[in-house]
Amino acid sequence: MTLTIALAKGKLLSGTEALFRKAGLPFPNGDGRRLVIPVDAVRFLLVKDVDVPTYVEHGSADCGIVGRDVLLESVPDVYEPLDLRFGHCTLALARLAGSDFDPRRASTLSVATKYPRLSTAWFLERGISPEIVPLGGSVEIAPALGLADCIVDVVETGRTLRENGLEVVDEVAVSTARLIVNRASYHARREAVAELMATLQRAIP
Ligand code: PRP
Repeated sequence: MTLTIALAKGKLLSGTEALFRKAGLPFPNGDGRRLVIPVDAVRFLLVKDVDVPTYVEHGSADCGIVGRDVLLESVPDVYEPLDLRFGHCTLALARLAGSDFDPRRASTLSVATKYPRLSTAWFLERGISPEIVPLGGSVEIAPALGLADCIVDVVETGRTLRENGLEVVDEVAVSTARLIVNRASYHARREAVAELMATLQRAIP
């Protein structure tokens, strides 16, 4: 039975390929522009990382590979049976380097981020109701331009923060790549899903 798997096109794709190849699973070849790619008994969808949960929750894909950061923001109604243990990164609160401004103690605060829900919840837990400046990317330039007091964004090597004059204030969450599974597929395609899970599990570092 053919499984449909949604893959995130961004930073996780190379790690996903490495894991699938190590596991001996099919994986799309080459760098074409096709976004729905059948390989053996699997149909792959190549989509934006934030859209992976949508395809899986709605059943357009049986499974997906996506970062925990995205799941914490979108909170999809899916199973999340496996931590694939690659794509390690932090969701960090960051400010202009050298500043003594502490966003965790501010009375008013603006936060630029791709993670509005997660950031709001994190600050509300600390008694601060932030103004969110929602951005789709290149969040690190916001403080220097006066668009926001601070940011909440993904930090992997820390290079983007450094090269844009920012420093970490606090860790909001940690993330790795996860396997997610549509709730109906988990039961209706039990055998295929279980086989995929077992095969991935054996290859997880
Ligand atoms: C991500 C993230 C940071 C950067 C962190 O951006 O949003 O900007 O990677 O990586 P680093 O710590 O290794 O420098 P991405 O490349 O996905 O682009 P984006 O700006 O569109 O989010």
